[in-house]
Amino acid sequence: MRKPIIAGNWKMNKTMAETKAMIAELAPMVEGAECDVVLCVPYTDIATAKKAARGTAIKIGAENVHWAEKGAFTGEVSAQMLKELKVDYVIIGHSERRQYFGETDQTVNMRTQAALAAKLKPIVCVGETEQERESGKTEEVLYRQLTEGLKGFKSKDFDKIVVAYEPVWAIGTGKTATANDANETIAYIRSVLNKKFRGVGEKVRIQYGGSMNTKNCKELMAMPEIDGGLIGGASLKAQDFSQIVNYNK
Ligand code: 13P
Repeated sequence: MRKPIIAGNWKMNKTMAETKAMIAELAPMVEGAECDVVLCVPYTDIATAKKAARGTAIKIGAENVHWAEKGAFTGEVSAQMLKELKVDYVIIGHSERRQYFGETDQTVNMRTQAALAAKLKPIVCVGETEQERESGKTEEVLYRQLTEGLKGFKSKDFDKIVVAYEPVWAIGTGKTATANDANETIAYIRSVLNKKFRGVGEKVRIQYGGSMNTKNCKELMAMPEIDGGLIGGASLKAQDFSQIVNYNK
């Protein structure tokens, strides 16, 4: 069985002091959680978050990683640098990176390779825009993002790789895909991966992301294809995030 994974994506939010306070509040609330609990935080918060999460159920992730080992890449951070901080997970190819920072399927591919080489667990994001959805291109877009973004990988890499399906129109908008729609699209993602990578369909964990919150998490998580959530806004408050983590209680 696939172990569910609920991950927060803090985006560009929280100072170190806020990080420390939130994790101290959250830790007892998620003790004994049946799913993997992850917080992906800004680079500047990682060391604080790691320290605050020590001995708790919370794992820490980064929000991006560069593909090169080192070099002239101003503003970027390498996988080894994250490894040195004992980061467990890293988000790759978030739609905000694709939209505002020129991320492509090719750079997603290179970043994912670098993350795996450093034994980080990549959370690879895919998802269609509203326009793509309205013009009936959802499956075409997902197919391209998955096959290009994950080209050259092996079945065993999916023991580590988590895929996050985040329809762009649902991010930060309060609009959620219906549980049935999300389930159906994630089933499609699973079938594409299963065709490309032998035996992966059964084991790859696929999250839903996009306005997931305390109200809709139970219904989404009850869907057979949905193995978790990637939570933006609702991951910024310990109360809300812990309720999502404890969706089955
Ligand atoms: P919201 O939960 O704020 O819609 O953000 C989703 C997201 O982008 C998580 O990566």
